[in-house]
Amino acid sequence: MSNFQAWRVHENDGQYTGAVETLDTADLPQGDVLIRVTHSSLNYKDALSASGNKGVTRHFPHTPGIDAAGEVIESVSEQFSVGQQVLVTGYDLGMGTAGGFGEYIRVPAEWVVGMPNGWSARTAMVYGTAGLTAGLCVSKLLRMGASPDQGPVLVTGATGAVGTVAVEILSTLGFEVTAMSGKADMVDQLKTLGATEVVGRDLLESQKKPMLKPKFAAAVDTVGGEPLAEVLKQLLPGGSVACCGLVAGMDVPTSVFPFILRGVNLLGVDSVEIPLADKEAIWSRLSGDWACRKTEKNACEIGKEDLGDALAAFLRGESSGSVVLSHVI
Ligand SMILES: NC(=O)c1ccc[n+]([C@@H]2O[C@H](COP(=O)([O-])OP(=O)(O)OC[C@H]3O[C@@H](n4cnc5c(N)ncnc54)[C@H](OP(=O)(O)O)[C@@H]3O)[C@@H](O)[C@H]2O)c1
Repeated sequence: MSNFQAWRVHENDGQYTGAVETLDTADLPQGDVLIRVTHSSLNYKDALSASGNKGVTRHFPHTPGIDAAGEVIESVSEQFSVGQQVLVTGYDLGMGTAGGFGEYIRVPAEWVVGMPNGWSARTAMVYGTAGLTAGLCVSKLLRMGASPDQGPVLVTGATGAVGTVAVEILSTLGFEVTAMSGKADMVDQLKTLGATEVVGRDLLESQKKPMLKPKFAAAVDTVGGEPLAEVLKQLLPGGSVACCGLVAGMDVPTSVFPFILRGVNLLGVDSVEIPLADKEAIWSRLSGDWACRKTEKNACEIGKEDLGDALAAFLRGESSGSVVLSHVI
């Protein structure tokens, strides 16, 4: 048993407040692998958990953090040995199970992945669930036959944690990338990441017309809601959109026209509950030929005391790029 610090959220009369507290590893749930977490990353879902969204976290007090990377301290699983560097993303971590905003987690072995070759815990958390999701989106588009010669690819929520990695991977693969962003001051940064063109959110403002001029061969949509319905209207025949997010809303007011007149494909992307092998395949690309060196370089690192402000920025849609939580600064 050892003491450790965690950023823990308490519920009081419908208000949710987070603060750094001292806990004991004996307070952690049962599990196969005890991990000393050196780094975590910030995700929109963490902001939902910390603000009391019961669709993410039902019981408080709670330690959020859907991502964690660090060193194995104890393991009853033969797959993992003490001292090994590992990472965990998704499943129930940071939702119902104490997550990476604490310096220790204890989890089932089925959630744990050995650290990809050449990566530190910090690098793994520059990508985290957001990078994994961007990789899964690109992978789905490629499996649908997307290729650079078909036309530009749109990325919505482009300055977000998922969006920036998607822009960089697609650019590395030779796609012409149109980045949609509400942040006028991030145009240069998006171009540095590889966007050919940066457009404002007005591109996807709700329009009455059932179909619009087709512009994009494919899209990675991180925002959902009405903008996603507008993306569907602007895809070229046979085009696909990989849909992973909901920051602009959960309801997608679409007609069937994009599907039956242009044969477009709406591809759902889940990074949380998919088999570990599917996650490992994407980690292997991200630590290899899909490495996003610019995103790695631009990532911002914060300590536990900064979590409250950083998570609030996510909820306001003001966060940009990858935000890493370090427990060792
Ligand atoms: N399916 C999965 O497994 C999975 C995994 C990870 C994340 N997600 C979801 O993907 C979404 C993005 O995650 P993230 O970590 O990238 O979040 P994020 O860093 O907060 O990025 C979201 C971006 O969307 C844009 N945005 C925010 N509010 C908007 C609005 N009302 N209308 C249009 N655009 C808006 C902003 O970018 P600009 O200012 O550049 O426009 C913002 O930076 C979230 O909904 C998250 O829950 C899903």
